Amino acid sequence: MTTLVAVTGGAGRLGRSVVRVLADAGREVVSIDLPGTAAPDGARASVPADLTDAEQTHRVLADIGPSAVVHLAAIAVPFSRPETELLPTNVALAHNVCDAAVRIGCRSVVVASSPTVLGYGNPAGWRPDYLPLDENHPARPWHAYALSKLATELMVRMYADRNEATHFSVVRPGYVIAPEEWRGSPTQGGHTVADRLAGPALGAKSLFNYVDARDAGELVGMLLDAQGAVPSGEVFFACAADPLAAEPLAELLPEFHPGIAAHASGLGHGEPAFSIGKAERLLGWRPLRDWRTELSAVTT
Ligand SMILES: NC(=O)c1ccc[n+]([C@@H]2O[C@H](COP(=O)([O-])OP(=O)(O)OC[C@H]3O[C@@H](n4cnc5c(N)ncnc54)[C@H](O)[C@@H]3O)[C@@H](O)[C@H]2O)c1
Repeated sequence: MTTLVAVTGGAGRLGRSVVRVLADAGREVVSIDLPGTAAPDGARASVPADLTDAEQTHRVLADIGPSAVVHLAAIAVPFSRPETELLPTNVALAHNVCDAAVRIGCRSVVVASSPTVLGYGNPAGWRPDYLPLDENHPARPWHAYALSKLATELMVRMYADRNEATHFSVVRPGYVIAPEEWRGSPTQGGHTVADRLAGPALGAKSLFNYVDARDAGELVGMLLDAQGAVPSGEVFFACAADPLAAEPLAELLPEFHPGIAAHASGLGHGEPAFSIGKAERLLGWRPLRDWRTELSAVTT
């Protein structure tokens, strides 16, 4: 097992759970995040750094000396900054971290991408080739955030192809729900999980995908030790096994995305729009939590 792990963006919504899960599995975790961010629970240390600076990124990682890196740091919300800032920032972050991880001799690197690379929500129209979506579905990004994530995936492929000593993986988490958000804290969109269930228009944008942050953390942990089991450079959806919706997607998707009605009609009861079959097949990963179990745990 890789023991000393550096997590970039460890203070973030997903990072806090990734740090906790890795620490609970017996790893030593060092978080790297912007100055002024809170140290995540479970981290042995928290190092302030701006990872858009290549030299600083290399220096910080060389000082920590991890055997593995989880790269989560990013501008994580589409359109939350100008497109001209978002694209170069996320691309620089991914490049600096992957490059430094290889140069210091890390055994494994896991990098966060996003299902948005597929291009859903494009106001000019988007039709999937098929549902449920899997990792082989073509990417058709339509904004800087999705493009930055597709560039990140290509970058990981490049590093995987030219560095046999470092094993790379990509995770595409669904809409991340942190543990406190089941108890009513606002989610990334500013509304609660209950709002999202009561108002399906909110979740329709992302085809009702979601994942509990701890479940995504478990997949990250498995990928850190996946050398031998999984080829380097592979991409995995990290989504819940069901949609974040009270109604079946065969009914909801046609209402919000008339163009994909034909594909949606084939989705079975409780089946999500994103398949997690690849992570299950290659790693035995299954999310342990879904919105029904988590919300009922809050009320009982
Ligand atoms: N939250 C989601 O629903 C979701 C879905 C799909 C993919 N992702 C991806 O997962 C990753 C984590 O997302 P999140 O929701 O935890 O985001 P977040 O915004 O909560 O956390 C991102 C962290 O990165 C840090 N960061 C940003 N710029 C940095 C820099 N220059 N140097 C160092 N640290 C920097 C931030 O301070 C923050 O703590 C991101 O790559 C995001 O794109 C998130």
